[in-house]
Amino acid sequence: MAWHAVAKADDVQEGKVLAASAADKMIALYRIDGTFYATSDICTHAFALLSDGYLDGDCIECPIHQALFHVPTGEVRAEPATEPLRTFPVKVDGEMLMVEITD
Ligand code: FES
Repeated sequence: MAWHAVAKADDVQEGKVLAASAADKMIALYRIDGTFYATSDICTHAFALLSDGYLDGDCIECPIHQALFHVPTGEVRAEPATEPLRTFPVKVDGEMLMVEITD
């Protein structure tokens, strides 16, 4: 298990996506209804940064071809993507947001 400090929790604002990186992974951070989430920042369809996308409720829309992913689970909600998005466990430690990356 490896927890990485990725951002100040206060910097992750409701309704927005914050790009971060840790352990050579590009990560997107979200706060949805007060709960923090982390996913891979890279769309599984082609190379696009989801942190440049549009957060619609609890789904993130890719800015390139508009695939839709459910942020809490990573599952695909709209094509053209077919592979789910990787998600990461998140916890708050003091003022920092921590993400667990296991590989
Ligand atoms: S790159 Fe994201 S849907 Fe195509």
